[in-house]
Amino acid sequence: MKTKILLKEAEMPTHWYNVVADMPNPPAPILAPDGSPISPDALTAIFPDAIIEQEVSAERWIAIPDEVREVLRLWHPSPLYRADRLEKALKTQAKIYFKNEAVSPAGSHKSNTAVAQAYYNKQQGIMRLATETGAGQWGCSLALAGQMFGMEVRVYMVKVSYDQKPYRRSMMQTWGAEVFASPTNMTQSGRHILEKHPDSPGSLGIAISEAVEEAAGRADTNYALGSVLNHVLLHQTIIGEEAKKQLELVGDYPDMIFAPCGGGSNFGGISFPFFADKATGKKIDLVAVEPTSCPTLTKGIYAYDYGDTEGLTPLTKMYTLGHDFMPPGIHAGGLRYHGDSALVSQLYDEGLLSAVAIPQLETFQAGELFAKTQGIIPAPESCHAVAATIREAKRCAETGEPKTLLFNLSGHGHFDMSSYDRYFKGELEDFEYPDEAIQESLAHLPKVG
Ligand SMILES: Cc1ncc(COP(=O)(O)O)c(C=O)c1O
Repeated sequence: MKTKILLKEAEMPTHWYNVVADMPNPPAPILAPDGSPISPDALTAIFPDAIIEQEVSAERWIAIPDEVREVLRLWHPSPLYRADRLEKALKTQAKIYFKNEAVSPAGSHKSNTAVAQAYYNKQQGIMRLATETGAGQWGCSLALAGQMFGMEVRVYMVKVSYDQKPYRRSMMQTWGAEVFASPTNMTQSGRHILEKHPDSPGSLGIAISEAVEEAAGRADTNYALGSVLNHVLLHQTIIGEEAKKQLELVGDYPDMIFAPCGGGSNFGGISFPFFADKATGKKIDLVAVEPTSCPTLTKGIYAYDYGDTEGLTPLTKMYTLGHDFMPPGIHAGGLRYHGDSALVSQLYDEGLLSAVAIPQLETFQAGELFAKTQGIIPAPESCHAVAATIREAKRCAETGEPKTLLFNLSGHGHFDMSSYDRYFKGELEDFEYPDEAIQESLAHLPKVG
């Protein structure tokens, strides 16, 4: 049995896979913040043309530029592992594989799209990018990518993560980025939140408002988003494409795929290339894993909503908990987002994808077992996929089913050790979001149509 299944550099994918080509229905259109059809100008103010084209493309395959492949080669193709030590610990008949996206220099899958986004902006003469970061993984990835292409990067980092993870800030600074704890008093959006909530812990929605406001207000600056949008999921499909080739090398194919789901990018990245097979009738279950404290797919509703808290972004039709939903300060910062990718949401609504919500403690228990058996300490976000896989593998142990399970190890947890510390001290709590609080946020959804 092979532990690491590796591809040669020359086998790295040359094209991204666009799931839109295989969706049973075209994606719901993006609308302007006031609910009217969006004008292209709203997007060209903050994104380069190539990205806007990808956002609305229905082409099945989109070529990865050589300049992007050259940077991705620093860590791609990423390894696929057979987690046989975890299988043994669980006494399961299931085979467990995981794709290791923690091997990027910034520590997660987020770098896959950061490199592409930085490249397309530079190609259009934009040398400055503004962005938000939740867990710090995306901010690090964009800082790294900006550095690779000689660009300036400014990051609005959600305050709770800024305080929990000072070394994420140092990493971003090492790669030349400027980092601020959001909400800041540097933007109108930040000031507006601070007036209402001076001690706000911040949220991805607020940090997005700050970054979009800056990009829209400065001609020399564009905005880059680490998840949610169609082009981001497109850039992440390199994960699933590689995993498919790697499984072919060992003559296997997954029955189920699990990935943590915040805005949906690593879930889309690993699962969409397999969705192409599902669309032609292959039986495969693609499972998004979210926290019970921010249960977007499992408890949200499918409706048009803003991507940010202040209502500055266009409206997309997605599963949402309401744009002013304030998730508790759980340790999987990257999963604290009120909405989800429009593509993931539509396919989930059509019953073609599944979702499960897992409480925080179970995810850390899973992360600990994974670290003790396979050695790698997963990011708290990735622990969600580990936990869901372990649940299924234990089920297989009871029923004797020899299923093949694949999950995405989206990142390592080396900068999340303060969260592990709190888990070891017994200080972590489970948080089930009260239905009334969700209903309260949902009452503020924009009126469309
Ligand atoms: C390691 C890791 N995994 C998963 C996620 C969730 O994001 P997405 O759903 O876009 O993959 C994040 C987000 O910050 C992350 O840092």
